[in-house]
Amino acid sequence: MFFLLAILALAPASGQQTIVIETSGTALAFKAEQGKKLVQTYIGERLMSKAEYESAVAGFDAFPTFGGKAIGEAALRVVHQDGNTSSELVYDSHSVKTEGDIVTTQINLLDPAYPVQVRLFFKAYQKSDVIEQYMEIEHAEKKGVTLYDFASSYLTLSAQKYFLTEFHGDWAQEMQMQEQELIYGTKKIESRLGVRSNQYAHACFLLSENGKAAEQSGNVLAGQLEWPGSWELRFEVDQLGDLHIAGGMNPYASHYKLPQKTVFKTPQMLFTYSTSGTGTVTRRFHRWAKEYGIHMGDRTRMTLLNNWEATYFKFDEEVLKRIISDAADMGFELFLLDDGWFGNKYPRNSDHQGLGDWETNHEKLPNGLGCLVKEANDKGIQFGIWLEPEMINPKSELYEKHPDWVITQPNREIDTQRHQMILDLCNPKVQDYVFSVVDQTMQQNPGIAYIKWDCNRFMTNAASAYLKPELKSHLFIEYTRGLYNVLDRVREKYPDTHMMLCSGGGGRIDYGTLRYFDEFWISDNTDALDRIFIQWGTTYFFPAMALASHVSVVPNHITKRIIPLKFRFDVAMSAKLGMDLQPKDMTAEDKQFAKNAIQEYYGIRDIVQKGDLYRLLSPYESRRTAMMYVTENKQKAVVFSYLLKKTINGEKTSLVLQGLDPHKNYTLHEINKDPKQYSWFSPLEGKTFSGDYLMKYGLRFTMYNEFDSKVILLEAN
Ligand code: DGJ
Repeated sequence: MFFLLAILALAPASGQQTIVIETSGTALAFKAEQGKKLVQTYIGERLMSKAEYESAVAGFDAFPTFGGKAIGEAALRVVHQDGNTSSELVYDSHSVKTEGDIVTTQINLLDPAYPVQVRLFFKAYQKSDVIEQYMEIEHAEKKGVTLYDFASSYLTLSAQKYFLTEFHGDWAQEMQMQEQELIYGTKKIESRLGVRSNQYAHACFLLSENGKAAEQSGNVLAGQLEWPGSWELRFEVDQLGDLHIAGGMNPYASHYKLPQKTVFKTPQMLFTYSTSGTGTVTRRFHRWAKEYGIHMGDRTRMTLLNNWEATYFKFDEEVLKRIISDAADMGFELFLLDDGWFGNKYPRNSDHQGLGDWETNHEKLPNGLGCLVKEANDKGIQFGIWLEPEMINPKSELYEKHPDWVITQPNREIDTQRHQMILDLCNPKVQDYVFSVVDQTMQQNPGIAYIKWDCNRFMTNAASAYLKPELKSHLFIEYTRGLYNVLDRVREKYPDTHMMLCSGGGGRIDYGTLRYFDEFWISDNTDALDRIFIQWGTTYFFPAMALASHVSVVPNHITKRIIPLKFRFDVAMSAKLGMDLQPKDMTAEDKQFAKNAIQEYYGIRDIVQKGDLYRLLSPYESRRTAMMYVTENKQKAVVFSYLLKKTINGEKTSLVLQGLDPHKNYTLHEINKDPKQYSWFSPLEGKTFSGDYLMKYGLRFTMYNEFDSKVILLEAN
């Protein structure tokens, strides 16, 4: 009865019709006829005439199921209560809802033989030109059904050739780009890690048609999944040469028993299609992120000094007060206290113990956190705190009290990573506890303005003691839902607190989580050369305003590389500037340089954090790399250029700028100069050129030395 009512509430369509989903530049079209399969007929650049989508002849099953005639990868696989392993989906009805900038199309599909309804949602963001797709399934089979495949989205491309760029890596080398041609068969990128799911691969892709992806030309479909749990992206080139792309939560070891009248909702897949290369898709994602995808995407992000690399676990109140004072003196806006401030029975003096015991360590901080918050505020800066509330060391008071709260298989040896385990967020009591960690820290120490939320391991040996035996396979999904419950509560109570998303570096970066977070820590690797590559890949999908980038000491703690301070600053200033070193260890000269650099950053912060990104020279293709940001009104721009390897005769590639107004005249100034060095930019200093000239002839200045860097400000007259 419930099921019938739900269906009748939406007017059934009659005859064949075309459903068009459009943004300002992208379009997706389907042919729909009641009782027949829904057919995808178009994906590409928006057509001028809506009527012409009807002429599109190509047709692909819009959401293939296992069973029936389909032989390819399935978007959905359901086992029904009577054991039938097949599903057939046919079009039933659809509706369109407009809320401001967002047009949501809901297409309802039915299985004619079973009371199962599948709803496909397409949220088309008109201005930012991106679409979110997700799926809901609901049924009225009394004994329940089991879901084995449950993609969020399914899209088909039909071209001569396909080139896939994936973003993979590991701890300290996140977001490395690799491009390959897809040939017959299925290529799968996935994570089975449950938590910290991006450690080895990120749920993002660029798919270029007929040639390798290029910055300013070519047809590219770009997508990313908004989900911090296990995920998969499948790319199947079939026998006819068509490419089917399915993405969503990873069904691996996650079959889901769905009771009747319960909605199973999949996470959103965010995608856009550009006919002008990858630069366009980046700017669309960034604009969307600032408006919808990250928490308070319109507020300016603060500069900060973090004590992690400066002190690790070795600090006390006096040491911190000195750092706070130095941070304020240098011009930072916030001091962030990292790991090591808590635990008494098991003091957190290393990563071996204390995680879970969120009580200030009396020895290190006898006057509590409150005194540090006050110290920071008295010096005119804000205070932030590190938490890792989902995790626990077995050597902790929390574990002694609640050994059943951790994720582990019974009768198996405990498997730790970084000496820690994961709390079972499927369990509502654990959710309450995790929320209380944040809540109590905030309540007991009024004035905390910023939280760094860390997460330093992924799931192995994974089982929840809370889930009933027949529901154990829900763990990977329910964990994330539990995390969202906690984050919803945190955001409801603390809407304005700045939060940094961290996961042993960039192990958890996705727009499912970023709607709760203002910024993220992309890598523990602060080596400026490695960072160029890490940040290059990351900013295809995530904006610089949210990408925390810190200047640290040399030799770098991870790579041992020695890089000049100016270069380190110039790299960090191309994103959200911070510092991870002890100011007291700097020479007076370096300190003065850093102070100036921070002030220079304030001068360009709005351009970097709020402007549009244009990539000029790729570090993957050239020993010199460059990119620029341009304000929306095209009045200001800032160009960053880095030389990665010495060139004896000088590297003089022209930086052909992008995104300027050809009719405006721009005056050039080098900023963040090293007073000790002659600058080869000098001949251009203070000169004025038209946007037209700069975007055709370009900006030409030579760079010679390894780790030479330049930051050029352009201001329209
Ligand atoms: C991993 C993070 O990525 C680091 O920045 C630091 O917060 C450590 N965890 C602390 O344990």
